[in-house]
Amino acid sequence: MQLLPLFAVFGLALAETGINGWLRYAALPSSVSWPSIPKHIVVLNTTKTSPVYTAGQELQRGIQSILGQGCHISNDKHEESIVVGTLDAYVAAYGKLNESVELKGDGYWLSTGSKTVILGQNERGALYGAFEYLSMLAQGHFSTVSYASSPDAPIRWVNQWDNLDGSIERGFGGASIFFANGTVVNDLTRVSEYARLLASVGINAVVVNNVNANATLLSPHNIDGLGRIADTMRPYGVQVGIALYFASPSSGVQGQANLTTFDPLDPSVVTWWSNVTEQIYERVPDMAGYLVKANSEGQPGPLTYNRTLAEGANLFAKALQPHGGIVMFRAFVYNQLNESDWKADRANAAVDFFKPLDGQFDDNVVVQIKYGPIDFQVREPASPLFANLYHTNTAIELQVSQEYLGQQTHLVYLPPLWDTILGFDMRVDNQTSLVHDIISGRTFDRPLGGYAAVVNVGTNQTWLGSHLSMANFYAYGRLAWNPAEDTTKIHEEWTRLTFGLDPQLVNTITNMALESWPAYENYSGNLGVQTLTDILYTHFGPNPQSQDNNGWGQWTRADHNTIGMDRTVSNGTGYAGTYPPEVAAIYENISTTPDNLLLWFHHVPYTQQLKSGKTVIQHFYDAHYSGAETAQTFATQWQTLASKIDTQRFNEQLCRLKYQAGHSLVWRDAICNFYHNVSGIADELNRVGNHPWRIEAESMTLKGYKQYTVSPFETASNYHAVVTSDNITTGSVSTTLHFPSGIYDIGVNFYDLYGGESHFEMLINNKGVATWRGDSEDYLGHTPSIYLDGHSARRITFEGVAVKEGDVFGIVGTPDGIEPAPLDYMVFLLKGVLD
Ligand code: GCU
Repeated sequence: MQLLPLFAVFGLALAETGINGWLRYAALPSSVSWPSIPKHIVVLNTTKTSPVYTAGQELQRGIQSILGQGCHISNDKHEESIVVGTLDAYVAAYGKLNESVELKGDGYWLSTGSKTVILGQNERGALYGAFEYLSMLAQGHFSTVSYASSPDAPIRWVNQWDNLDGSIERGFGGASIFFANGTVVNDLTRVSEYARLLASVGINAVVVNNVNANATLLSPHNIDGLGRIADTMRPYGVQVGIALYFASPSSGVQGQANLTTFDPLDPSVVTWWSNVTEQIYERVPDMAGYLVKANSEGQPGPLTYNRTLAEGANLFAKALQPHGGIVMFRAFVYNQLNESDWKADRANAAVDFFKPLDGQFDDNVVVQIKYGPIDFQVREPASPLFANLYHTNTAIELQVSQEYLGQQTHLVYLPPLWDTILGFDMRVDNQTSLVHDIISGRTFDRPLGGYAAVVNVGTNQTWLGSHLSMANFYAYGRLAWNPAEDTTKIHEEWTRLTFGLDPQLVNTITNMALESWPAYENYSGNLGVQTLTDILYTHFGPNPQSQDNNGWGQWTRADHNTIGMDRTVSNGTGYAGTYPPEVAAIYENISTTPDNLLLWFHHVPYTQQLKSGKTVIQHFYDAHYSGAETAQTFATQWQTLASKIDTQRFNEQLCRLKYQAGHSLVWRDAICNFYHNVSGIADELNRVGNHPWRIEAESMTLKGYKQYTVSPFETASNYHAVVTSDNITTGSVSTTLHFPSGIYDIGVNFYDLYGGESHFEMLINNKGVATWRGDSEDYLGHTPSIYLDGHSARRITFEGVAVKEGDVFGIVGTPDGIEPAPLDYMVFLLKGVLD
């Protein structure tokens, strides 16, 4: 006899993996009632590979799933029907619409009622309209609407930083869905599902490979692979683009000619690129275009041959032009610098390189500019390059993948950050000139422009590695369509679609999201000092001193008395002066520079008073404490939703939020300790360096354990940890407790290294209380570390443990692989205490 799975017997909700993202089409709860919805779907003029066909299928699937209503798809006219197609096809079949409808490229018209009409300016516009209609139904909105919606900008792309070996640079959601072993994977099911998600938020192209590109992508075999990817995504209206390696012509690409040069002005190079481009378009007739990272971070480019970046970009523009493709040319070009030069500034690089070239780029080139002048930091001013290119198409580059922002193990809802840039008024020529109007092409009357975001989804069932991070992906699409949309509303909408309509659920998750970026900024780097992460290693945990004394130019210039980059014209790097005059004047002056960018623009004493009245150093302490305190509440807020979310997604997210609670304390203590140590200025509230509820592991009785000096020092409480004497033998730490008897949450701070999974057992009076493993590399997707440092440091908490004064407390650690069961400290917390 076959056994029925338990959920079938008891009618329990199926666990959800997150694979459908916000397109779950969950059945509406019985509390919602709705008017009758047409049972016929009329799909106009379509072939199976067309987005209009997909729209019909999607409508049928969605209505069945959300409302439990079957629909019949046909080409025949029906009075009560949902008609989907292009506007032109509609007019041909039904005659003119009663309303006058104006649609821009990719736009749609949606009119609901007993006859619902969904019409696209083009085929994918019709699909976008269908997704919009389904989103309404899934959220229980049944009011009749009639409106046109068109995207703000033509370019709404995502970039994947996938390598051909299947790894993803700065990807935290598993391996590539596109590539493995040097070529395109056979099974493209996930690629099709990705295209569906992308189309549902209006994304029209994806660059499938890393900006640090590999020439082997251009072999005939791989071009055919790209063709398969394009064929898979085409029914969703998502075009494929690729990132190019500038020196490909001389890289010995299999099946292509091999030249001795890659000089962009050399005729043989010009011919090489036009041949390769031709081959690609033969297989992928609708290829979107190329993305090029040149002369940046070791990548070759035109400067190698004393050619300008514009000449480099135009090489590709000319090859693409006959096929209608475009070149996204990255402005992320900078050199290594010397910190002893007070005027040196990486933030100046993009304007230095690109402003003189304004007007020299072909019309199908778009300069792709990171939102800030450095590199996806937690707070940056808007890149001044947006205001310096009058005769050049531009696009903004955002990052959904949270490289410097917690790598998807910290909850950080990014749209409020993006909003500070998109809505920033550059005051070009003393006129209103919002960044989103510049990139849409409106301000400077440019034919092209828009958005790119590094997304880096992977094979993980959650796509990004974390369920809640998907809100960033969703919101990116919504904002690229309409940058004026309210980021709170977007989040509420995403939550309804992803988790359900219950208002408590929507409010709680949205509240957590809105608190998350400010909290992360507070505990990772505030006042515009940048994310104080380890810029030389994994960009994840704290390591403030890694910013300085190297050529990367992400400097803080912190010394014993002062901190911050002087970017003024009067005394500093001159960067403030690269903005239009009204903005430049604000940043030039300390008194008008907003506090949250103070250290970005000014070099000041730690005792400098902020507008809030606090000193810089006290603000540091307070912000780190307050940010970490907020992060403690996320898991608790989430836990109030236990009965409202399926177990799988609930538990997976809970695990991350608990991790974040612990790691935010690692951040808080590291940054506070570091600046306390450098400045010698005490915390007015006496929290920094004062931890009454902790027991340092090195102060306990050690058996088979030895003291270890951690580097960077500030990532260990009291600078030290303990590790087992060798990598094989179990050791123990123990001590007698002198805390008053009571019920405690016991936190253990330890280091969870990549390359081993140590086992730990907690004992009270020789009785086992809890066990755990240092195995987070198996389920937290952030870049792991092989050292005891701010990346591997974490806290695990055991709640509600009864402890008596005089108890003997101990931990037995068993090393594994390279991980010597490292322990930092234990902390005993009565309700309401945080230490
Ligand atoms: C950052 C990131 C790199 C990436 C680069 C880029 O520096 O750390 O991994 O290649 O940006 O955007 O090109």
